[in-house]
Amino acid sequence: MLNSDLENKDPIDYPKRNVWIKTFGCQMNYHDTERVLSHLRKLNFLPTDDKNDADLLLFNTCAVRALANMKFYSQLGELKVLKKQKKSNIVIGVLGCISQIEGQELLKKYKHLDFALGTDMVDQIPEVLYRIYSGESKIVLDSFDKTSAYSIETKITHQSPQAFINIMKGCNNFCTYCIVPYTRGREKSRLIKEVVADIQRLVEHNGIAEVTLLGQNVNSFGKENQETFPELLARVNQIAGLRLIRYTTSHPKDLSDELINAHGTLSKLALHLHLPVQSGSNTVLARMNRKYTREAYLDLLARLRDKQKGIVISSDIIVGFPGETDEEYEDTIDLLKQARFDFIFSFKFSKRPGTQAYLMEDHPDDQIKSKRLKKLQDLQLAIQNEIRQEMVGKTMQLLVDGVGKIEGKKKWKGRSSCNRIVHFDGPPEQSVPLLYKWVTVKITSSTALSAQGEFISIC
Ligand code: 5AD
Ligand code: SF4
Repeated sequence: MLNSDLENKDPIDYPKRNVWIKTFGCQMNYHDTERVLSHLRKLNFLPTDDKNDADLLLFNTCAVRALANMKFYSQLGELKVLKKQKKSNIVIGVLGCISQIEGQELLKKYKHLDFALGTDMVDQIPEVLYRIYSGESKIVLDSFDKTSAYSIETKITHQSPQAFINIMKGCNNFCTYCIVPYTRGREKSRLIKEVVADIQRLVEHNGIAEVTLLGQNVNSFGKENQETFPELLARVNQIAGLRLIRYTTSHPKDLSDELINAHGTLSKLALHLHLPVQSGSNTVLARMNRKYTREAYLDLLARLRDKQKGIVISSDIIVGFPGETDEEYEDTIDLLKQARFDFIFSFKFSKRPGTQAYLMEDHPDDQIKSKRLKKLQDLQLAIQNEIRQEMVGKTMQLLVDGVGKIEGKKKWKGRSSCNRIVHFDGPPEQSVPLLYKWVTVKITSSTALSAQGEFISIC
């Protein structure tokens, strides 16, 4: 039976069941989870937060660092007891990056696991469940999609006006520390016309007003189709009803002049760019196979800031890469001072079997890595605190995306175009619903991580 046949069946044909899903890792995985939930909804599954209530339990896994791996293995182990208690009446499956590279072994090792789906097989979930509920067990689908084209339709299961749009998959870069090229395969892009039609549909029918275009390296989008990322951005910028365009992740080596110009000209492009630098040392960057220097990176920042006034830059940094000397580490500290990032994700190097860095010599010991990470994070918080004081007294537009508690008091929470979080009290008549509205607020105070504001108006 084809997926489409399964999905087109009336949900009433399927018994009501509950699905519990735990997602680890990056936005790509969260996006895949949404896809899976959308397929499952058509098969009469409703999401639940309670494992004990679930008929189907899924893990969407991440292999990028050891910590996420360990959390997954321990939670998977715990489900053995649950399956025993429920007399095997539940189905357990693994998706995502670990499933892609270790699916076969996982099924051999964990007898209570029913299936493993690789990263290219997410859309096969209806077929796999059909087979499982027909009595099959131990299914592994871990091949990569061999077709040359990449074509999908974005699935939305949430109420918010924000949507993640996968524009490409895979990665060809082989940074020496990174497992992603092995778990997600080679780069493949969707066609511009398909992405544009997809977003138009979401704007018209799902109330989407903000999109985040997703790919491991969006700057090499479209290469195989003789299309480019700046061309895509220009087309998406023209979609009526769409307000804000974000994208992630960019590789500095591929950030073209056209893309820098786009930041100066496209009105809907967010005032934020995530541009992972990984290290401030040229010798470490070479060992990481990043193919740019710190000077080239800092030059990109200067040109971006020149083109789009007010753009803020965030980054990823790894400390304790194999062979990282004190001097090399200090180069990263120095780069942090010069780059003045708005925030960073920082990590201790994690040894991933199968990557080139795994085999390198002189791995710094964990104590050194922890010390280096702490010093880096303390410096970044101080820089961040300083940068964010500059917001105080200014007005900002936010998309309200929830309610947070500040010192025990409920406040609205919103995110700015430059990706900063602001908490604020609503208008005096608290009954005015602000969720998912764009509002103007005046910033009254700020810390390194979030700001407080006063509501001015709905905009
Ligand atoms: N160890 C530590 N951090 C890593 N990242 C990727 N692989 C590793 C690894 N082996 C980080 C990089 C990347 C982010 C998503 O995860 O900084 O940009
Ligand atoms: Fe990993 Fe480098 Fe590809 Fe990013 S660009 S996914 S860090 S190999």
